[in-house]
Amino acid sequence: METITFASTNQNKFFEVQLILSTQNVSVEFAKISLVEIQSDSLEEIAREKAKTAFAEVGRQVIVEDDGLFIDSLGGFPGPYSSFVFRTIGNDGILKLLTGSANRSAYFRSLIAFYNGITLSISEGRVDGRISERVTEGGGWGYDPIFVPDGTDLTFAELKKSKNEYSHRRRALENFAKWYLNL
Ligand code: IMP
Repeated sequence: METITFASTNQNKFFEVQLILSTQNVSVEFAKISLVEIQSDSLEEIAREKAKTAFAEVGRQVIVEDDGLFIDSLGGFPGPYSSFVFRTIGNDGILKLLTGSANRSAYFRSLIAFYNGITLSISEGRVDGRISERVTEGGGWGYDPIFVPDGTDLTFAELKKSKNEYSHRRRALENFAKWYLNL
């Protein structure tokens, strides 16, 4: 089976994608490219357009990912704007917005979009959890230090490699692999 290219600026995502897809017998390589994202309230629309742009750039079958962190008590914010919000107010800013809030439930969505010039397919994964009270130590990237998935008391950052047992990315990639291996 042909190797798939994962196009992203985020190498952290690639390391996770590679590890997860290796358990599904799907071989993936990294193209570190910056893809212009359309502005939209819909992750699906962003992922779809991103896949087409990536295919035009790399010229072979490609997958891209679009994610969002959705916080219930903030009406789903930051959602499709997660990347901008992370760059601007960051994890400390999110914790401030939730000061005094009894409801800290949140979820991550991941959409994996595949495109080979003919077929475009979107696979989804979601993980429910909550926003921690503080920014935890232990590395990780993005919102890893403040997101606690259901089923544990540890944040993604504290879970380290076990993050993949819970993550939205794993669930989306497993759905993708099921579809892809029957293509
Ligand atoms: P995008 O899909 O690259 O636009 O990602 C949206 C935002 O969600 C980025 O700012 C990431 O930091 C954040 N994000 C996506 N997945 C994860 C994750 O697994 N852990 C932590 N943050 C994430």
